[in-house]
Amino acid sequence: MKIVVLTGAGISAESGIPTFRASDGLWAGYDINDVATYDAWRKDKELVLQFYNERRQNAKQAAPNKGHLLLAELEKKHEVTVITQNVDDLHERAGSSKVVHLHGSLFEARSTLDERLVYDIEGDILIGDKCEKGSQLRPNIVWFGEAVPMIEKAAEITEEADIFLIVGTSMLVYPAAGLIHSTKQETPIIVVDPNKPDIGGVLGIHFIEEKASTGMLKAIEIIDQLSKN
Ligand code: OAD
Repeated sequence: MKIVVLTGAGISAESGIPTFRASDGLWAGYDINDVATYDAWRKDKELVLQFYNERRQNAKQAAPNKGHLLLAELEKKHEVTVITQNVDDLHERAGSSKVVHLHGSLFEARSTLDERLVYDIEGDILIGDKCEKGSQLRPNIVWFGEAVPMIEKAAEITEEADIFLIVGTSMLVYPAAGLIHSTKQETPIIVVDPNKPDIGGVLGIHFIEEKASTGMLKAIEIIDQLSKN
């Protein structure tokens, strides 16, 4: 079976990485508008860099949780592609081999002059760190208001899904949330999230209202059932 999985911040919550829309409306203590938009970058590059440097350190200290590990294990029986909105590397560290990062990666920097110049990084990006063409480096993250270059590839992958699994995303951010409409009409859809996201216009979804760690076990039961049919 071809299983395509769309993940969001919720799958990393049990690894200690804060979700975006927690009840305080802040993201790890920051207002998203101050740190995750191109405007924010224009206004205060140092603050934006500091924010992502902190996120990178946080991600490095975190370990994959059972949700990530169960997803990786699905590859033993199925052809699995993970499309993640997350910028951490916990899917890869859990062992998932096909991961598409829709919103970029904390572990890449890119040129502000030429977006094709992308560099692997482990440490901080600082003011004055430059690409080979001499321009300031920025995180290789898709900010609000920016295009999502991987969305077409993600939509093509989603079209091929025999099962579409959604884990830990509020389904509020487009175009990622719109991927659900790229599935074939008969493709079963399973959602794992303790707070049922509002997915308008799509019927017959299997909702598992639990955290990723326990919800994934139930999702696997459903997948086993569906693959027997
Ligand atoms: P959100 O913070 O909007 O949603 C997180 C979802 O995870 C919510 O539906 C929670 O109910 C759910 N959740 C919380 N704990 C969970 C757990 N233990 N197991 C499973 N689910 C849990 O995060 P995203 O939907 O990922 O974009 O946000 C989408 C995008 O908006 C992000 O990629 C980011 C953000 O701003 C950019 O940075 C461009």
